[in-house]
Amino acid sequence: MSKQPKSPQKLPYLVDVEKNKSYLWCSCGESQSQPYCDGTHRGSDFKPIRFKAETTRKTSLCGCKHTKNPPYCDGTHQDL
Ligand code: FES
Repeated sequence: MSKQPKSPQKLPYLVDVEKNKSYLWCSCGESQSQPYCDGTHRGSDFKPIRFKAETTRKTSLCGCKHTKNPPYCDGTHQDL
């Protein structure tokens, strides 16, 4: 696995999150369960990002894996 994350897609994933539930966002891009971690990063320098939803809502999680505000899309995908 390289030092650069893989970009499963150059768009965010629009997902439903539930208040007070914790999620593990895939940072390496290799997970088969995007945008969430499935453990594929093991053995690499990547670690998933754990976040807790403050409200039940739809949110945009980064799919390009280059956001500067993980796990959320910050628009960086537009420059790739
Ligand atoms: S999908 Fe990565 S910044 Fe938008």
